[in-house]
Amino acid sequence: MPTQTAKARALVARFGGERDGAFSPGGVSISRLAERYGTPFYLYHGEMISQRVRRVREALGTEVSYSVKANPSLGVCQLIAREREAGAEVASGGELAVAQAAGFASDEIVFAGPGKTDDELRRIVDAGIYADNVESVNEIDRLAGAAGRAGKRIGVGLRINPTTQLMGSQMRMGGAATQFGIDQAELQGAVERTLSHPELILRGIHVYTATQVFDVAALLDHCRNILELGLQAADLAGRPLDMIDFGGGFGIPYFENMVDFDLDGFGEGFRDLLARYRPDPRLAGCRFLFELGRYLVADAGIYVMRVVDVKPIRGKTFVVTDGGMNHHLTATGNMGQVFRKAYPLLNLSRTDASPDVNVAVVGPLCTPLDQFGADIALTGPRVGDLIGVFYSGAYGFSASNLGFLSHPTPAEVLLWGGEEHLLRAAAEPEDVLTDQRALPLASEPDPVPLARS
Ligand SMILES: Cc1ncc(COP(=O)(O)O)c(C=O)c1O
Repeated sequence: MPTQTAKARALVARFGGERDGAFSPGGVSISRLAERYGTPFYLYHGEMISQRVRRVREALGTEVSYSVKANPSLGVCQLIAREREAGAEVASGGELAVAQAAGFASDEIVFAGPGKTDDELRRIVDAGIYADNVESVNEIDRLAGAAGRAGKRIGVGLRINPTTQLMGSQMRMGGAATQFGIDQAELQGAVERTLSHPELILRGIHVYTATQVFDVAALLDHCRNILELGLQAADLAGRPLDMIDFGGGFGIPYFENMVDFDLDGFGEGFRDLLARYRPDPRLAGCRFLFELGRYLVADAGIYVMRVVDVKPIRGKTFVVTDGGMNHHLTATGNMGQVFRKAYPLLNLSRTDASPDVNVAVVGPLCTPLDQFGADIALTGPRVGDLIGVFYSGAYGFSASNLGFLSHPTPAEVLLWGGEEHLLRAAAEPEDVLTDQRALPLASEPDPVPLARS
């Protein structure tokens, strides 16, 4: 079982290794990058992302859709959009705009989410995406209304909340009463309602119920259930299905005692499974896809922060950095985690020695929640050193409470094709005032009468 330090070191090697005792991604020293872009910042590796997409597609033998929510940075999405048979799964009007700007073809985009607004439904129809993965019978009618007003037809995937739970995962979004998807018991009603609207084209079904899945056998069983559900939907529709979207949720071994998701093992089992179902005429011409977020991009990102202070207090040492939960909520365990555990951390300025102290690594915010770990093994952290938080390519920048405490937002830098690409510049402290409107205090307005309490 690799330690957290071993995982971080393996990722350092994949990013391009070390030079003169310090992390040197793509041959550029990390201190040079930190000076150029300011700390803290996100560093991504483009080739790692592209390679991962290809590897997943080859292992599964299906199309791969990128869940834009994992990292909606335009440059990251562009790299995935250029890959063969790579689509996008979006969940808001903003993500749809990013996917289109990144170059995903409309017929490669699917849209999920239980609360789509009228404006989003209009955008879905205007963009002519492959499928709106509808989450209720009401949404089926609303989508048909939007398509009718635009005089267009639009594809529909029925997001089904299956009766069986996907075991062996963290954070479940199906198999129980949740706001996601249409109850499997209502499948027939949903198929009939979709077919009753001439503006709608029934594409198929979508099931996404869990994230951080590592159990290959449980996931294969889940996929078999989805295929059976697809056959039922085809029977109800009286014609073959065009799409089965298996969701995804492949795990990333962020924490101690976790190992890599067995992609090859799963791929082998899944290809066997698909080989058994593919010849069924009810699946003739069907597109099979997985929509994956963290599995495609998490490895390829590091959040780099600088040590501002080192404080021994009552036998414990606190390493205070300039990066915190406001930029990286998930790595501080504040995104719904029940037990707070630490991501792999490494002193990037001293990669030539083994960890020699156990410290708490904390951020600059005025809350004890702003902590990356209470007992992290690090190599002699000193003021000015750069600390890396690994597996930060997914659910980092965009999943954070960026406005909390009004610190500037960090830069995002992508290494790709032997060059550095600034995807997003760091903000300045004054930028917190952008978009705010000041009160016109020069004149004294008539007071709004207050009700007596
Ligand atoms: C509908 C849907 N698809 C895909 C994903 C991506 O999940 P993951 O990043 O675990 O692969 C999510 C995550 O919440 C989701 O809600």
